[in-house]
Amino acid sequence: MENSISGVNDILNNQDGVYQFLMKIIAGRNSEIGSHLYRIQKQAILFSQFADLSIKETGIFIIGAGIHDVGKLSISDHILNKPKKLTASEYTLVQKHVEFGFNFLEPLRLDSRINEIVLYHHENYDGSGYPDGLIGDKIPFLARMTRILDSFDALTGDRPYRQGFSHSEAFGILQKESHLYDPKLLQCFGRMLDSEKVPTEHFSIPYAHI
Ligand SMILES: [Fe+2]
Repeated sequence: MENSISGVNDILNNQDGVYQFLMKIIAGRNSEIGSHLYRIQKQAILFSQFADLSIKETGIFIIGAGIHDVGKLSISDHILNKPKKLTASEYTLVQKHVEFGFNFLEPLRLDSRINEIVLYHHENYDGSGYPDGLIGDKIPFLARMTRILDSFDALTGDRPYRQGFSHSEAFGILQKESHLYDPKLLQCFGRMLDSEKVPTEHFSIPYAHI
């Protein structure tokens, strides 16, 4: 799939530079998180088309989705790489990554929608998410899109205790838990999967991007 970041460079200017900078730092620190972000950034390009985003919104979305977990830089390797279940206090700390990431980005004065993706990508449509328990359309639109990509990538990836789900299995799980997601965006995402343009393999970030 072609990386269309270059196509919107003129609109995004230094925001793309910031994206590249952060991506290399994240991938250098933790290649699993780097690969997760890289896959999501690729899917964000396609999802933008199915959700009818403008060119500018597409550029914002690609960058925001591509660095949404930047706050995990503040979490120790011990916790990030822990193969066992996290303790309650570790889990609370991991949840803080959305605020850590927002605080990293704030001084950079990027488009505010990028910061919103980072802060709100774990909000659930029914209000059960974090950090603020926002409900429905109160959750910024691009954060709602990122939420779907994030869950899908987690489901399709292998875990120490299970193999990754297939695309159709993973989408079935998203539909069962549809209260967590924007229903219209979930439909768009389903159409995107039906298009069979989404690579089925769980690829890693190329070394050249680290
Ligand atoms: Fe996250």
